[in-house]
Amino acid sequence: MNVVFCKIRRKRKFAVQSICISLFLCIFSICVIKSLSWISDKHNNQFERIIRVSHFCEDFKDTQFETVPYNIVNLRIIVIVYNRATSLRRLLDSLNKAHYFGDKIALHVWIDRSKNGTIDSNTYGAASDFTFQHGQYYVHNQTCHVGIYGQWMGTWYPKSNSSEFAVILEDDLTVSPYFYKWLKLVHMKYDNYSNVNGYSLQGISIKHGATQSGYLEVNETHKIFLYPVLGTWGFSPNNRNWRAFSDWYLEVRRDPKFRPLVPGIHPSVWYKKQLAKGHQDHMWSMWFIYYAWMNRELTVYSNFKGHKGLTVNWKEHGLHYSENDSKRSPDPLLVDWKPEYEDLPERPVIIDVNGRERWRPE
Ligand SMILES: *[C@@H]1O[C@H](CO)[C@@H](O)[C@H](O)[C@H]1NC(C)=O
Ligand SMILES: *[C@@H]1O[C@H](CO)[C@@H](O)[C@H](O)[C@H]1NC(C)=O
Ligand SMILES: *[C@@H]1O[C@H](CO)[C@@H](O)[C@H](O)[C@H]1NC(C)=O
Ligand SMILES: *[C@@H]1O[C@H](CO)[C@@H](O)[C@H](O)[C@H]1NC(C)=O
Ligand SMILES: *[C@@H]1O[C@H](CO)[C@@H](O)[C@H](O)[C@H]1NC(C)=O
Ligand SMILES: *[C@@H]1O[C@H](CO)[C@@H](O)[C@H](O)[C@H]1NC(C)=O
Repeated sequence: MNVVFCKIRRKRKFAVQSICISLFLCIFSICVIKSLSWISDKHNNQFERIIRVSHFCEDFKDTQFETVPYNIVNLRIIVIVYNRATSLRRLLDSLNKAHYFGDKIALHVWIDRSKNGTIDSNTYGAASDFTFQHGQYYVHNQTCHVGIYGQWMGTWYPKSNSSEFAVILEDDLTVSPYFYKWLKLVHMKYDNYSNVNGYSLQGISIKHGATQSGYLEVNETHKIFLYPVLGTWGFSPNNRNWRAFSDWYLEVRRDPKFRPLVPGIHPSVWYKKQLAKGHQDHMWSMWFIYYAWMNRELTVYSNFKGHKGLTVNWKEHGLHYSENDSKRSPDPLLVDWKPEYEDLPERPVIIDVNGRERWRPE
């Protein structure tokens, strides 16, 4: 009897001790995690990041910037624009027509400056006259000419604990009314796949293999597919991956000799051509493609019938297209939703840069 009682007391003492120890460990690790996220979020001023990723803003490095308001939202839409008032109006109107299911949405328009420092007043007018019917709306003038690098890589850097996701849209796109419905589905389904770096909204993409040409044709039985090269006609990054990519870029860009070239693909050829012309600041995506290749990551694409996309690219004269591209008829857009689109595979097919099916990364 006595022995049993003693044992129980000893057990209880032991239990109290272990509860104390685990409580301490718990509080300690919460403190560590909090301070780590505080350290990384301290450098979260968006204007400051933009200046750091851009090649053009040396004179502004020591500026004190206003902070961008970042309330908790479900979706953050980042529109990047440069001197294209008409296109911007068309994109913003399509964003108003999309379905958001009462979710919390923020829309940011980032207007780049010209190299001589001016903001195009028509573009600013188009942005400031617009009323967003589905949530918060912000218009930001860039501090200096930040170029396509600053616009793409600096305008979104989610907090480490944030559950929002973003979509980055160039001004010459329009969106499908269902773009957010699809994004919600795929984020929910694939955000915890460690090899998925984001979601592309375009319905048409070329094959990127060095010896291939033509468009990707994926068997209709696949509702979505994974592909090694991102599509930039509307891209929604995976948060964890985008933070890691942004941090990596700021590190490697310090070495002026570093070239993000991936063997065996067309984008490397284009990048080299841009380099030869002194235009390496035109192709930010090469860095993303390289990062994905290095880490064996893939991008999710939709595969709707007839190449219908969640965006249309109007291919306007600018950095990426010549005058004649814009004369082609626009690509098809997804305007109807069917319940079968919601049945997404656990193990999506992988399409390689030559358009062939694979089930595991090379
Ligand atoms: C600045 O650049 C813009 C766009 O390139 C041009 O339209 C404008 O005339 C320039 N302004 C000055 C003062 O040079
Ligand atoms: C942005 O630029 C426009 C056009 O130059 C100007 O009218 C507006 O005041 C600027 N906004 C801010 C917040 O600087
Ligand atoms: C994230 O952390 C910040 C500060 O550390 C806090 O203010 C914010 O409420 C947190 N957000 C979420 C979604 O937990
Ligand atoms: C992702 O999460 C879901 C549901 O929580 C789980 O069923 C699935 O196995 C996870 N996938 C991976 C790759 O971790
Ligand atoms: C698509 O896949 C299905 C099922 O595997 C197959 O029966 C069909 O022949 C394929 N279609 C084409 C055009 O390859
Ligand atoms: C556009 O098309 C016209 C007529 O077909 C041609 O003369 C011109 O060289 C083309 N321009 C470019 C930039 O390809």
